[in-house]
Amino acid sequence: MPGLQSVLVTGGAGFIGSAFVRHVVEHTPAHVTVLDKLTYAASPAALADLPSERVDLVEGDVADPEVVEPLVAEHGTVVHLAAESHNDNSLDDPEPFIRTNVVGTYVLLEAVRKADARLHHVSTDEVYGDLALDDPKRFTEDTPYRPSSPYSAAKAGSDHLVRAWVRSFGVRATISNCSNNYGPWQHVEKFIPRQITEVLEGRRPRVYGNGRQVRDWIHTDDHSSALLAILERGRIGETYLVGADGERTNLEIVRSLLRIMGRPEHDYELVADRAGHDQRYAIESGKLRLELGWQPRYADLEQGLADTVAWYTEHREWWAPQKAATEAAYAAKGM
Ligand code: NAD
Ligand code: TYD
Repeated sequence: MPGLQSVLVTGGAGFIGSAFVRHVVEHTPAHVTVLDKLTYAASPAALADLPSERVDLVEGDVADPEVVEPLVAEHGTVVHLAAESHNDNSLDDPEPFIRTNVVGTYVLLEAVRKADARLHHVSTDEVYGDLALDDPKRFTEDTPYRPSSPYSAAKAGSDHLVRAWVRSFGVRATISNCSNNYGPWQHVEKFIPRQITEVLEGRRPRVYGNGRQVRDWIHTDDHSSALLAILERGRIGETYLVGADGERTNLEIVRSLLRIMGRPEHDYELVADRAGHDQRYAIESGKLRLELGWQPRYADLEQGLADTVAWYTEHREWWAPQKAATEAAYAAKGM
């Protein structure tokens, strides 16, 4: 496509969306409009330092056609990140996950179809379900869908809708499925920020079940560079898996965080397990690397974790207001 001039980013006030907006502002001349419902997970503060002539924030629901249609028509290029994103919440109440992740994607697709816009849909490797801990395989673009939770099932539904709109209506869309992200501005309900902020508040990290589950970690800046590469150079109708070879058990991550924060490595608690807990995620990202020449910059996960610890240490005023309510909700579940 010709150089990016203007892009609509749904969910652009969230953890990954705001990182992507920062990346676009830094690496392209494009103007960005963020469409975000500003749910509990949003952080407008993550966009506050960006030049106001480059970024607009529109508060609205991606499932509302009256809001979405004019914005899509005006911009012509859309990157879709708006979603309910936390597995544990989806087990407590699936309804917003169906509404935003499935119905929201449907509404956006219809707007994209009417406006003949270009769409990149941001999804997760969790649509593939999990791998066994003793299975050496990794997910590829050909792995069958087998989601486990209401969150991952709703994301899987959204991916299927995008593929159907490409095939049946000729919509110009790409899809990416990325592994677990870490970095600044991630809500304290998620694994890594929860453990860092527990330690900063003088408590112990809280590990579900036996802690042997494996996640494949990628820094959100590396996810952002992959999204821009796919938006600018990806082939229409294709799916790209995004991952940075960051497989670790949950216990390995907690021990690294404790080491970085100067605490004994065994100073954590095992708590109640998550229902239906996926065992292992692992991404084979060769297609993205070979076709689009993408490489992650954060090759050293330990360094990325240390940077993230430093960021949360310096941004207590941002996360502290969310922390007590988040922990109260977890405590009620014994987690
Ligand atoms: P997040 O929860 O931090 O941010 C989601 C954003 O979407 C929030 O700003 C929220 O206000 C907004 N939003 C929610 N409902 C909305 C609605 N109805 N209309 C408009 N905006 C709405 O999530 P995240 O971790 O930044 O994830 C962003 C996207 O990336 C999601 O689609 C998620 O499935 C995908 N993803 C996340 C990860 C991860 O590790 N976090 C990995 C792979 C893919
Ligand atoms: P999470 O950040 O919720 O991401 P996802 O469910 O998308 O993988 O959790 C990452 C892993 O950490 C997952 O195996 C669940 C586990 N976990 C804990 O052990 N303790 C916690 O407090 C949280 C939030 C997650």
